Amino acid sequence: MSEIQRVGVVGAGLMGSGIAQVSAQAGYETVVREVEQGFLDRGTGRIEKNLDRAVAKGKLEEAERDEIAGRLHPTLDLADLAECDLVIEAIIENLDAKHELFGELGGLCKATAIFASNTSSLSITELAAGTDRPERFVGLHFFNPVPVMPLVEVIRCGQTSEEAFKLAFAFAKSLGKSPIACGDNTGFVVNRLLVPYMLDAIRAYESGVASIPDIDTGMRLGCGYPMGPFTLGDFVGLDTLYHITEIMYDEYKDARFASPPLLRRMFLAGYHGRKTGKGFYDYSDDEPVVSDFVS
Ligand code: CAA
Repeated sequence: MSEIQRVGVVGAGLMGSGIAQVSAQAGYETVVREVEQGFLDRGTGRIEKNLDRAVAKGKLEEAERDEIAGRLHPTLDLADLAECDLVIEAIIENLDAKHELFGELGGLCKATAIFASNTSSLSITELAAGTDRPERFVGLHFFNPVPVMPLVEVIRCGQTSEEAFKLAFAFAKSLGKSPIACGDNTGFVVNRLLVPYMLDAIRAYESGVASIPDIDTGMRLGCGYPMGPFTLGDFVGLDTLYHITEIMYDEYKDARFASPPLLRRMFLAGYHGRKTGKGFYDYSDDEPVVSDFVS
């Protein structure tokens, strides 16, 4: 067990709330911070729903659920993170916003605290360079849905100390996750392979290879993937996927990472997947159907 006792999570969106949940479940006092009460309530509501579901399924005792909830400390005040040993950032994928946040945190947190980013595609080296503690900065990249997916990519850059990397790796393990060590290459391991696959599926559809449901069915039943590439794109969010392509293409200048025109247009039109009710599929009814944008 590491020296980490108190964990801060900045951002209570889908990823941040999931990270806060698994942290509190693993026994850490966990402060979760949002900028608006509405966002905070939505994040804590999501955690409560997940815990209640686990109780209903007999996977968690009611008393355990209450203990976990007692370790969660929602707040709107960044200063409440001052005593945290590890702060994990899970805000929007925007370099300036993240630099600003880590700048504020540097002035508030203990010098020994480790800072981590859950970024899926920004450079850990560049994020670390903008802080007062590049040697205590790592990437901790979780996967959606965080309470379910066992993987955490632990990213170290040139400046990361061995001690900080080991603490972060041990922390991920203590959550019951299976961490892997990654260098600071844009997309790390998973997105480097997953993103071109999802983009290729869109290109295959654009060039008339098969319909969206048939490509999804092909990959589900032919490869045993839990979701086909279009269902997965809607699940990840087509805005998120589009932003990742921009960052990856900018880094590698390789056509594999470039957004196909269809993805860009869906992003511009607000067809962002499940979160907006429509992406490649329309989620208005119980059974998703191909959305009007692509039918
Ligand atoms: N939050 C918490 N728990 C959830 C959940 C959620 N959003 N969705 C499902 N679960 C839980 C369920 O409660 C259920 O738990 P129990 O086993 O304890 O009963 C379990 O997960 C299985 O759920 P379901 O039976 O409802 O559904 P399923 O078997 O179809 O699984 C899934 C759902 C886990 C999402 C599965 O479809 C899956 O693994 N999909 C692929 C997900 C994936 O690839 N994620 C990575 C995305 S890429 C990424 O995150 C990186 C990036 O940077 C873009």
